[in-house]
Amino acid sequence: MVGNWKMHGRISDNATLLTEVAAGASALQKGVRVGVCVPCPYLAQSQALLSGSVVQWGIQDVSAHSGGAFTGEVAAEMAADFGVTYAIVGHSERRAYHRESPELVASKAQRAIEAGLTPIVCVGETLEERQAGTTEQIIGTQLDAVLAILTEEQAAGIVVAYEPVWAIGTGKTARPGQAQDVHAFLRHKLLEKGASVASVPLLYGGSVKPENAEELFGQKDIDGGLIGGASLKSKDFLAICRAAQTVTH
Ligand code: 13P
Repeated sequence: MVGNWKMHGRISDNATLLTEVAAGASALQKGVRVGVCVPCPYLAQSQALLSGSVVQWGIQDVSAHSGGAFTGEVAAEMAADFGVTYAIVGHSERRAYHRESPELVASKAQRAIEAGLTPIVCVGETLEERQAGTTEQIIGTQLDAVLAILTEEQAAGIVVAYEPVWAIGTGKTARPGQAQDVHAFLRHKLLEKGASVASVPLLYGGSVKPENAEELFGQKDIDGGLIGGASLKSKDFLAICRAAQTVTH
């Protein structure tokens, strides 16, 4: 279960949220892994407050380069200096607002792996693409670009998140069956890369709330969630984490 804080947080408020999440997560069953992806300036604070807890921390994007004259960019190795576990790559907000192509996202995933981070590769279709019947083509292209440049061993170490763009921050969640259909498609694509790749965690993201979490996580190929808005409130985020532990599949 991974929280994506997006561009939210202030140093004065983060301490409470991080401490509460760490305390609540310690009471979860061991099978439930919890992480929070925070804005870069708060990686040091996350490291200070979460080290020794069961909660991992992550970054929301990394550069496709490993260093050099790229003003404003942050290299995966730099994040690794702060004990980071996860690097979200290809979030739909980056694909849309920063025109990130499937190939660029793939390079970012590769840089993350080289730095010892676990990339959380986000894929998802817009409402227009869904209505045009091109969901599988769109997310297939997004995932294929990543799988094409990774070895089977590298691919087996990634996390994939399906986030339908029309469900992000809109309060409109995909119906559990709708999400499961896409997850089954993704699982099949991963299997084509290799048997060991088929078991990578597949997260669902898009308006996950305490009220809908259990039904979503109950789907066969939904292994967890990438949580936006609800990860900013410890009570809601922990309730979602607890919903995951009631599910067995
Ligand atoms: P919301 O949970 O706010 O819809 O955001 C989902 C998301 O984009 C997580 O990466």
